[in-house]
Amino acid sequence: MELLKERIRKDGVVKEGNVLKVDRFLNHQMDVKLFREIGKEFKKRFEGEDINKILTIEASGIGIACVVAEIFDVPVVFAKKTQTKNIAGDVYTTKVESFTHGRVYDIIVSKEFLGEGDRVLLIDDFLANGKALEGLAKLVKDSGAELVGAGVVIEKGFQPGGDFLRKQTHLESLAIVDAMDEKTGEITFRE
Ligand code: G4P
Ligand code: NA
Ligand code: NA
Repeated sequence: MELLKERIRKDGVVKEGNVLKVDRFLNHQMDVKLFREIGKEFKKRFEGEDINKILTIEASGIGIACVVAEIFDVPVVFAKKTQTKNIAGDVYTTKVESFTHGRVYDIIVSKEFLGEGDRVLLIDDFLANGKALEGLAKLVKDSGAELVGAGVVIEKGFQPGGDFLRKQTHLESLAIVDAMDEKTGEITFRE
């Protein structure tokens, strides 16, 4: 998606450790007009697919998923992250290991909001190691719902998440970063 790549080039900041900061428009300050264009692009790329629910994960997936859900005209659910040891009640839950943050957390979705008959599109802002999306895919499977695909705004193509997820489902990444140069700030996108 050319508009998105231009914006990443203009406002993205390459940080130490292969981290791409996009706080100016994606996951701190949010450019909702750009989100709309992103939503329309996902709509195009998943044209013809029968989708009746969007699933994302807190925190920074929520904003983008809301806009996408409005364009698809379906409800949106976000998985909650929790540290609680004993999760009681009617929820689906799985563990997610974040390499970036070096911790493991549980994610949960209430059984009330996901289940048989749901045809789910996963949405997230970033795909790096893919553990968050992998966890969401597991919740979908456990619930008896069907995973239709996953839409990601920025994929870090040099990390393993994308390749892994493509084997599982229809993945659409709107910008794939193949390399970043800390010193020059140069970002190389996949064509
Ligand atoms: P993954 O397995 O979910 O792909 O992610 P990983 O553990 O590698 O990264 C952990 C968190 O860091 C994720 O957010 C992910 O979106 C985010 N992340 C990974 N690489 C980058 C990057 O280069 N730039 C930015 N801005 N974020 C990155 P999170 O902590 O789980 O969620 P949230 O609370 O921030 O939404
Ligand atoms: Na994030
Ligand atoms: Na996220």
